[in-house]
Amino acid sequence: MTFEELRSRALVCTACPLSERRTNVVFGEGDPSSPLVLVGEGPGDQEDKSGRPFVGRAGQLLDKALVEAGLSRETVYICNTVKCRAADWSTGKPQNRPPTDQETVACRQWLLPQLAMIAPTVILCVGAPSAKNLIRKNFAITKERGLYNECEYAKTAIATLHPSYILRQQRPDNDGGYGLLVADIRKAWDAAVRLREKMG
Ligand code: URA
Repeated sequence: MTFEELRSRALVCTACPLSERRTNVVFGEGDPSSPLVLVGEGPGDQEDKSGRPFVGRAGQLLDKALVEAGLSRETVYICNTVKCRAADWSTGKPQNRPPTDQETVACRQWLLPQLAMIAPTVILCVGAPSAKNLIRKNFAITKERGLYNECEYAKTAIATLHPSYILRQQRPDNDGGYGLLVADIRKAWDAAVRLREKMG
């Protein structure tokens, strides 16, 4: 199967209930030959509407951090743990929520082949659900972010704080962890370049 075939199949997926309320499947975008893949949590409202990952407020902060780390969206590949928006609809106004274990497992049928085809040198897990899915179930993001981890899907994986979390933590005198996000992106990219050179 080609990457485009995988995308076409994912775009019509009905494997879990998230498919019932979605506007668009957010497959991922960027450079599929990049040594670095960022895997976030899942689409929010803006991403669901546009079909593109990380384009809302959190995405804008991620873009800024990528630029500050010397990169851009075009130099990496960006996708998510689940490809459809997870939200609580019980109050009438949808509230984003983390994907459930069942939703995460259902969406592995797209994420894992996607990662296998890209074959990144380094995966940067953006937020806890991604780290728990790709590194270890009991991953503790605040203690373990910024460190190298064994990972089945790349030479190494690093986890970082999610930009939505950073936005919630920010105060006039506190960057909410934004500096750590920039440092983790930089570390992941440096490792990706170094390891890819070593592999020849
Ligand atoms: N948050 C994510 O984890 N992924 C997106 O695509 C957007 C917001």
